Order: sequence, then structure tokens, then C-alpha cells
Amino acid sequence: MRPLLISPSILSADFAKLGQEVADIVRAGADMVHVDVMDGHFVPNISFGPAVMQSVRSVTDKPFDVHLMIAPVDPYLEAFARGGADIITVHAEAGPHLHRTLQAVKALGKKVGVSLNPSTDPSAIAHVLDMLDLVLVMSVNPGFGGQSFIPSMLHKIRQIAAMTKGTAIDIEVDGGVTADNAEVITAAGANWLVAGSAVFKGGPSAYAANIKAIRSAAHRARGETI
Ligand code: DX5
Ligand code: ZN
Repeated sequence: MRPLLISPSILSADFAKLGQEVADIVRAGADMVHVDVMDGHFVPNISFGPAVMQSVRSVTDKPFDVHLMIAPVDPYLEAFARGGADIITVHAEAGPHLHRTLQAVKALGKKVGVSLNPSTDPSAIAHVLDMLDLVLVMSVNPGFGGQSFIPSMLHKIRQIAAMTKGTAIDIEVDGGVTADNAEVITAAGANWLVAGSAVFKGGPSAYAANIKAIRSAAHRARGETI
């Protein structure tokens, strides 16, 4: 079975102490750090860019899982690669030449993912599957943390699990993931779970319990105990 990994989104962190927040979630059990980059154009919110990401890169050796919600995306790939991204995920809707964008990420020596907005059909990635390390299913409309999981995305996760069966492609789900729905999301086929508000709620003293609750629920779906 593909490894189950929890990737807390630092969009929900306290930006005034971002380095400490990254250190705290890693100490609390995060497997990766999910970095949400927003441009105020592709999505209706602005977060931060490669310089901010790079400034916290030295805090941990854990992989940086970089989710680019920006268009155009090609001009910025190199900055995120140089800034310490381990996997770079672009949106299928971000430009007219997805294949070219994926080639560019691979040429930078990074793992590559494609993200699909809730309304985007899985067929958008049918002809680039052989290039992918990851498919990221958006389970809210991208732009903000703290939204509710869109239930119809469970069917899409199942569709993508079927499309990627027998490959090493990971399936990540992002948006509204909590300890209450992590089990059904994992049962549908996801193996990387992003969580922002469900990890950061309650402050640093709660992070370990928050991560553990999500991880335990996901493991239940796989018939595993931790
Ligand atoms: C939304 C981002 C998500 C989001 C997750 O545009 O891509 O990563 O911050 O936050 P929660 O878990 O609060 O929905
Ligand atoms: Zn994200």
C-alpha cells in the first residue's frame, strides 16, 4: 500500500512566527510541510512567495510539498525549486500547456503533481499520467483555509484511484480534511492528507493530538493500527 502521509498546511499557521510553527508541527508528527502559494489572480487570496518559503526551509529536513495556486505558473517554477521545494504541484487549470509545465518541473529535478479544482474532471490528467508523481484532489475551492469538505469529491478520489491503480502515483486530498472525515477520504483512495485548520486549531500544545487524530482515522480505513 502507498504510504500514508500527513501534510499540515502552513496557511493556517501564525505567520508572525512561521519558523517556529514549522518546527512545532514537525515535532508534533507532520510527515511533510504543505506550502500553499496564492497569487490573488488564479485564486481570490494572496499568501506568500518563494522568499518566505525559503526563509523557513532550514527549519526541517521534512519534504516541502508545494501547492502552487498561481497563473501563469511557469515563470516561478525555478524560484520554488531553488527555494527548497521537494514536490511541486501545479493546477491543471492554471495554463494552456500543462504538459510543458510538467516537463519544466521535472527538468528542475523535482517531483511533480497536478491539482484538480472541484469542478475539473479527472480526464484533465489522463494524457499526462506517465509524468506524474502525485495527483492533488482539491476538496474545497482553492483560496482559503477553514472551508467544508465537498462530499462529491469522494467519488472523484475513487475515480483517480482507479485511473492510477498499479502506478506509484500518490493521491493527495486538500481542503476541509478533519479527524471526522479522514477515514472515508482514505477509504476512497487518498494516501496524502493535507490539513490546515484541523492541525493548527488549539495552538502548539494541541498539534500532536490533532495530527494523531487524523492519522488514526486514516489508518482505520486501511485496517492498520498505530
Ligand atoms: C486551500 C489550500 C488548502 C487549505 C487547507 O486553497 O490549498 O491547503 O489551506 O486548509 P483546511 O484544512 O483548513 O481546509
Ligand atoms: Zn493546498
